Amino acid sequence: MGDELTHIPVLPSEVLDLLAPQTGQVFVDCTAGLGGHACLIAQQIGPMGTIVLNDMDQANLGRAKVSVANALCPGDPASVKVHAVQGNFAELPAKLRELGLVADMVLADLGFASTQVDDPQRGLSFRFSGPLDMRLDPSMPITAEELVNTLPERDLADIIFRYGEEKSSRRIASKLVAAREVEPITTTDRLAEIVRSAIPGPRGGINPATKTFQALRIAVNDELGSLESLLRLIGIALKKNHAGQPSWLASGSRVGIISFHSLEDRPVKRATGEWVKAGWAESVTRKPIEAGDAEIGSNPRARSAKLRGVRAT
Ligand SMILES: C[S@@+](CC[C@H](N)C(=O)[O-])C[C@H]1O[C@@H](n2cnc3c(N)ncnc32)[C@H](O)[C@@H]1O
Repeated sequence: MGDELTHIPVLPSEVLDLLAPQTGQVFVDCTAGLGGHACLIAQQIGPMGTIVLNDMDQANLGRAKVSVANALCPGDPASVKVHAVQGNFAELPAKLRELGLVADMVLADLGFASTQVDDPQRGLSFRFSGPLDMRLDPSMPITAEELVNTLPERDLADIIFRYGEEKSSRRIASKLVAAREVEPITTTDRLAEIVRSAIPGPRGGINPATKTFQALRIAVNDELGSLESLLRLIGIALKKNHAGQPSWLASGSRVGIISFHSLEDRPVKRATGEWVKAGWAESVTRKPIEAGDAEIGSNPRARSAKLRGVRAT
């Protein structure tokens, strides 16, 4: 992969409005991706600012670090404070404590980056032929191939139903089990073909495999479990902060979370609502912020993005 790879950040001006970056502040990016949002923040906080970039994906993280250091201080990128932390964002607060940093702004832009979904070797999309992998962090132990070929039929159906909200989950799981008894299912093409054979008739303009791919990706990467952990840790930090105890969130800090489907948005909505109700934070987004037509026209991925945010009180 070359360095020309890009990922257009969604809701860029809305993220800046919500996080309201100030010169010299500390920004923690839970999902650095290619550093699109982080570069925008870097330009606002300047060379006196500090940026922590976190991502499960080491390749994205390395690229993000270079871009962000250049955005923070174009004249002297080596002098700036950019920390790159590889790992799950559920472990990030502990790492911030180790670094001795307190965040003024936190952003989580959930899901995957275009570098990942467009890389056939990742197996994230039925648009490309590739191995059935789906790991965002290639060092993680379980692939989609293992799930599809080893899980009991009932568990497979539950995953497809719960994480894909797929009505035909039982039929799909039954077809997968029948197919793997003949030959292991090892490619995206084969998975998509089997799903299509289980779903009667067309589904509007949507590929019948969409929901099953989403479900397996969520399961492989434990996406909802990680999100719940992050939300819980933010809640604990906001509570401490409100009580005047030290935490990894600064007083008045701002937190923004961008979700891309209802399974992500529901826990974010619930958690932010609880923080506000408890008086630990005030809402900065009364309603979730969504992209306008112009942004959707130039970046179709923005279509399903929802940004919610709070400010620590
Ligand atoms: C939508 S992209 C972020 C794009 C970024 N905001 C930008 O503007 O370039 C999501 C990134 O989050 C990472 N990611 C997803 N879940 C994660 C998790 N639980 N912990 C750490 N990184 C995660 C993915 O590897 C991916 O690079």
